[in-house]
Amino acid sequence: MKAVVWKKAYNVVVEEVEDPRILEPTDAVLRLTTAAICGSDLHMYEGRTPMKAGQTLGHENMGIIEAVGAGCRTTKVGDRVVLPFNIGCGFCFNCSRGFANACLTANPESAGAGYGYSGLGPHGGGQAQLLRVPYADFNALPLPGTAGDAHEDDFVMLADILPTGYHATEQAHIKPGDTVAIFGAGPVGLMAAISAKIKGASEIYVVDSIPARLDLVRKIGAPCIPVDSSKGDPVEQILDLRAPQRSVQNLAPGSGDKMPGVMCGIDAIGYQANEHGKDDRSSPQQVLGDVIRVTNATGHVGLIGAYFPADPGAPTPQLKTGQYELPLGMAWNKGISIEMGQAPVKQYNVYLRDLIIAGLMKPSMIVSHRLPLNEAPDAYAKFDKRTDGYTKVVLKPQMKFSTN
Ligand SMILES: NC(=O)c1ccc[n+]([C@@H]2O[C@H](COP(=O)([O-])OP(=O)(O)OC[C@H]3O[C@@H](n4cnc5c(N)ncnc54)[C@H](O)[C@@H]3O)[C@@H](O)[C@H]2O)c1
Ligand SMILES: [Zn+2]
Ligand SMILES: [Zn+2]
Repeated sequence: MKAVVWKKAYNVVVEEVEDPRILEPTDAVLRLTTAAICGSDLHMYEGRTPMKAGQTLGHENMGIIEAVGAGCRTTKVGDRVVLPFNIGCGFCFNCSRGFANACLTANPESAGAGYGYSGLGPHGGGQAQLLRVPYADFNALPLPGTAGDAHEDDFVMLADILPTGYHATEQAHIKPGDTVAIFGAGPVGLMAAISAKIKGASEIYVVDSIPARLDLVRKIGAPCIPVDSSKGDPVEQILDLRAPQRSVQNLAPGSGDKMPGVMCGIDAIGYQANEHGKDDRSSPQQVLGDVIRVTNATGHVGLIGAYFPADPGAPTPQLKTGQYELPLGMAWNKGISIEMGQAPVKQYNVYLRDLIIAGLMKPSMIVSHRLPLNEAPDAYAKFDKRTDGYTKVVLKPQMKFSTN
């Protein structure tokens, strides 16, 4: 079969690799109809996160079940399914408590397994024609309809970025009426904005500097407001935008203006954040500082953007070993809670699927490019530059020619 293979930094190719097989009775094999490229894939594309040469990429996978092992009970050949990017076994201490993101059995190296990803075990990626699916009954989420229908590109968002964006709103404790600031209008930040809106947040500020991404914030609609970080300090901009609304939190006589920021802050950028106005991708302290500065006393912060224990491509010895600077004193003084980590996709994907089916969410609105597998190398290069309107690429392994 054909698959997208990582060779070295800035070099992925589409080449012939061995077909995946059923290795355990609980395995299935999936024929991909859609596999998305993720902002997380770019950490490896750039060589910032080391990967083994020859490993296949792709953790946002959906398609049709092609074969099942003798131990599969609910998964059947012909089923249309989407897979959480985390691979869980369903029976370990963490999976059985709902934390399939930290499965203890699916990755021999550490807690947490995933498809086609550095550090998440020996599992192949789904930017390919076929994919081995471990513990298929536990992992495969059944989907209605038929391959390629009007929900195809909505459903593929259930593999990662939609539940991940939703998880960010849980980490930041967003409730109806809350005020929210999201840093990063990449796919994850945009899905967090859609999720915050559906939870009934009253103000949602989304920060980025890329015009096409800020346009998508506008497209999600009120109460989402784009904030262009190339036009000055985004925290100051949010405080100014909030000025007319501040009375809500400062109503009691004598309150003063002590709650000028938001109650819920989300970092949807992570360790490859830019210093404002530059494209350096090496200033994580920028976003960590901003998200804590903009969050009010007693508020909540979610760090959904990735931070890794090793970042060999980072500019300082501290950052190379995952020692990130964070204004802890300010956070402590404000009594802010900070939550972080990989999203437990399975906790949310059923509900989010049903919101899509009910027509209440259209996450495919961010898809900019639908491409055949052989255009993946070019798509990686362009998506990595975050230019030319590349907001989200979905690969179609069964498509022969690009329709874009
Ligand atoms: N926790 C999880 O389970 C999980 C899952 C998927 C992705 N992620 C992580 O989430 C992060 C975002 O993913 P994505 O796909 O949206 O990536 P992305 O790189 O496309 O989006 C990041 C956005 O942040 C913007 N940005 C960079 N520095 C900025 C700054 N200082 N201020 C404002 N905006 C800035 C960029 O212009 C870009 O649009 C990545 O770190 C990814 O690895 C985490
Ligand atoms: Zn992803
Ligand atoms: Zn497990």
